[in-house]
Amino acid sequence: MMPTLKKKFNGKQLKRYKNVQDFIKPLLAGNWKMNGNVGFWRQLTREIAQSTLDFDTVDMMVAPPFVGVSTVSEEISKAMGTGLALGVQNIHHEESGAYTGETSPSLLKDFKVSYAIVGHSERREMNGESSVDVSTKACASLAFGVTPIVCVGEPLDVQEAGDTESFILRELAESLRGVFIRRADQLVIAYEPVWAIGSGKAATPHDIAPVLLSIRHYLISKYGDIGSGVRILYGGSVKPENTEELMKVPHLNGFLVGGAALKAESFLGIADKMR
Ligand code: PGA
Repeated sequence: MMPTLKKKFNGKQLKRYKNVQDFIKPLLAGNWKMNGNVGFWRQLTREIAQSTLDFDTVDMMVAPPFVGVSTVSEEISKAMGTGLALGVQNIHHEESGAYTGETSPSLLKDFKVSYAIVGHSERREMNGESSVDVSTKACASLAFGVTPIVCVGEPLDVQEAGDTESFILRELAESLRGVFIRRADQLVIAYEPVWAIGSGKAATPHDIAPVLLSIRHYLISKYGDIGSGVRILYGGSVKPENTEELMKVPHLNGFLVGGAALKAESFLGIADKMR
């Protein structure tokens, strides 16, 4: 059981943590999943990279499939001075060796990869990744200077049973088990209810707010002041039309976007509403 925020922190500390929130630059992360081809990745990166010049109040990242990393990296370096960062959708924890089909953070160094999504629910579900695996991947990313975006999210039956917060806190604690305070300032957390991903039915601010507060509470209790500055994203059917409403949720510091990240217009539309 997590202690409540009031018990653990006094009013002055809470106020300080609230002030920290006001200074966190939001992050918009696009997960392109298994979509596109060279021409598509090139064009989409160009459109986003060129526009990011106007978005100096929002950090932006796109994560193509591994085979697109080189193309996107090339386009980002061509658009000199863009704020667009490059990410990947998964990572292997070892540096190199006999790991057929895997890619490590160190292999991505030449491509200037800044972020790695770890523990996305699709990988947990379809590739059998456990929270222990996620923690190992997060640690490996941090060790190589790649910011992990650690995903957590409850399935529909858990949400219907009203067990969301305890499920999320358990998954988060396990997924961050090996991540110590020394590198915690590099962390990003993404709360993505499984039932909201790709469904067109985003969670409501009412659903999200208590979960983000619990996540923030957990981060502060584990990492102290540093935990108050860790960015917490929401993911699941985010689009330009619901961005403004979602942005009002306390402790929300950005979005992890799937479908709407595949078109420059909708991705940039979300970024525009985040400013
Ligand atoms: P969606 O995907 O925006 O298409 O719901 C989100 C995600 O999987 O990260």
